[in-house]
Amino acid sequence: MNNILIKINNLKEKLKQWEYEYYVLDNPSVSDYEFDITLRELIELENKYPEFITSDSPSQRVGGQVSEKFKKEKHIFPMLSLSNSFNKNDLLKFDQDIEKIVLSSNNEYFVEPKIDGLSISLIYKDGVLIKGITRGDGVTGEDVTVNVKTIKTIPLIIDYKKDLEVRGEIFLDKESFSKMNNESDKKFANARNAAAGTLRNLDSKVVAKRNLKAIIYNIPNPLEHNLQSQNQVINFLKKHKFKTSNESKLCSNINEVFEKIEWFNKNRELIPYDIDGIVIKYDNILKYEEIGYTSKFPKWATAYKFPAEVVESKLLSIDVTVGRTGRINYIANIEPVNLNNTMVSKATLHNYDYIKEKDIMINDYVSLFKAGEIIPKIIGVNHKKRDNNVIKFNEPSNCPMCNYTLVKNKDEVDLYCVNEECKGRIIEGVVHFVSRQAMNIDGLSEGIIRKFFDEKIINSIWDIYEIKNKKELIFSKNVYKKDIEQGIKKQKNFKDKSFDNLVESIEKSKKNSLERLIFALGIKHVGEVASKSLSKKYKSLDNLRKASLDDLMSLNDLGEKMAMSIFKFFNDEKSYLIFENIKKYGINTNYIQSNDYSDIHIKEKYKNKTFLVTGSFSTYSRNQIKDILLELYNSKCVGTITKNVDYVIAGKNATQHKIDKAIQMNIPIIEEEFWKKENQG
Ligand code: IVH
Repeated sequence: MNNILIKINNLKEKLKQWEYEYYVLDNPSVSDYEFDITLRELIELENKYPEFITSDSPSQRVGGQVSEKFKKEKHIFPMLSLSNSFNKNDLLKFDQDIEKIVLSSNNEYFVEPKIDGLSISLIYKDGVLIKGITRGDGVTGEDVTVNVKTIKTIPLIIDYKKDLEVRGEIFLDKESFSKMNNESDKKFANARNAAAGTLRNLDSKVVAKRNLKAIIYNIPNPLEHNLQSQNQVINFLKKHKFKTSNESKLCSNINEVFEKIEWFNKNRELIPYDIDGIVIKYDNILKYEEIGYTSKFPKWATAYKFPAEVVESKLLSIDVTVGRTGRINYIANIEPVNLNNTMVSKATLHNYDYIKEKDIMINDYVSLFKAGEIIPKIIGVNHKKRDNNVIKFNEPSNCPMCNYTLVKNKDEVDLYCVNEECKGRIIEGVVHFVSRQAMNIDGLSEGIIRKFFDEKIINSIWDIYEIKNKKELIFSKNVYKKDIEQGIKKQKNFKDKSFDNLVESIEKSKKNSLERLIFALGIKHVGEVASKSLSKKYKSLDNLRKASLDDLMSLNDLGEKMAMSIFKFFNDEKSYLIFENIKKYGINTNYIQSNDYSDIHIKEKYKNKTFLVTGSFSTYSRNQIKDILLELYNSKCVGTITKNVDYVIAGKNATQHKIDKAIQMNIPIIEEEFWKKENQG
């Protein structure tokens, strides 16, 4: 081999080993100085002989590539999230639910810190890191490979040649975060935001300087790599030089899990990065299919959340705002205070009765905490600290946006603005319409929407679809001025690009499946889940519109209140305007099945039946089979055997007692091969 190449390879190997010792093991064997001069030597050689630069070279960690925008990328396996547990009882129930399914009281759990960062999926082909994708909405993320390659704890090349996907968390440790905040002008509220901002930075050189780290904790298809427990997964990851958490532990039962939680409670401050809970995973992966999944998370794992932190701060003023339904909200402005590692300056106050009941006045000291991830809530007031400067806050009588007289419905505490033309309500309606769960239009932040309203660029939801014809007007009003001034995107043609992307996203939204449109319309009481089941059931907006009240009432997952609200919405005399606009702008009004089940041949005998599906399957997952039964056969799936069950579909490792019972009760059992022959043959 060429001498230069040998030299380069030697330098690379040395540097890789040192990087591993320093970043992954936290145990450096050489000084920073020695590392730096060796890296420089490699870079100099590579500059002279660029033909020898490989993508796994430590020199490639320094970044350099500037991205215009991150490409969207669909995940091979959806990235699920975790159910939450808040106390011992929740965890005992979690343990008992699993016990009932696996029929063993000998349950081992793998306990890990819940790192407060950003999840990432890394894909290796032939042992080479080829992709890093953010979580996004769980189905589609963003390709941030160039930035991920600069993260030193992520190996660029591994000693495992089979295609591999691993998942973990990218974060900034406490020390790097405080260093970064001290050194830069731009202050981030917490390490998570700083890590998020860094990972999505378009300049990978900036990313390389920030000392992001990644801890890996998951392989989405472990059985394909012959890994049968979470413990084995972690050992496999360690063996291939990924950084894993030092604080994880295999516990032999739920009581040991409680002890480990106690340990975390006591030692949280000593952990070098922020954690927002503890993840408890059933260790035996062979049981995962059987334990099952909901649409959002696995039932074999849960996240125990630390009790919410409560802090006190001064209430400076109260803003009155109007929501899309006309409901009046009260937002407290408070003296900035640190809560769960984030500086907060706003909190919600439920309604006026609450303010009166708790006797809350402006300039009082109030206590607040974070419920979920939304803005904090005010839960009380410290009357002992009250002085003469307090000012009473009076209930408003007019809408803050349109000045209409506010009304209170009988038996309700909330005040409403009933003016359908109220600008505040319309703006909030647009914010909801474009949101990620609704029409999913990128590029219309609340700020931009307000600006568009102020400049009369849009006056209603439907004007969104006219934006493409208003380029000149938009640019003449300097809507994007602030973004450009802040230098968020420094490209010269930022304006054009933003506009083009926005229009592209708006046009794309016209092809959404019906459930998004139903949810986006903001029908009172109709949330995301109900929108989905209405869309699946009625298949088109026209069918839904024609549904009788009786028909809507008969849907058992809707409830009376919701059925009435839907009926009222579609039978209101003004609703024709909605349909006219939907038609005018060519917005899709049909249900689009998201899964491709085109290989399924429908068998009449399985239509409108009740099924029980147990075990794991090779072509489709158990959940997909259930989906097929529901969508294509209009059949129901249940979890326990009763005389109402028409068929049992049994895969590998089917639950024995269910099979025994089915035989006893003479219920036909269809095995996977037979199911495949009949339905996919
Ligand atoms: S496991 C299917 N383990 O928490 C299970 N998640 O609320 C996938 N997270 O999106 C997640 N530390 O970003 C897992 N040790 C850990 C974690 C962890 C942090 C994050 C992850 C996930 C979110 C779920």
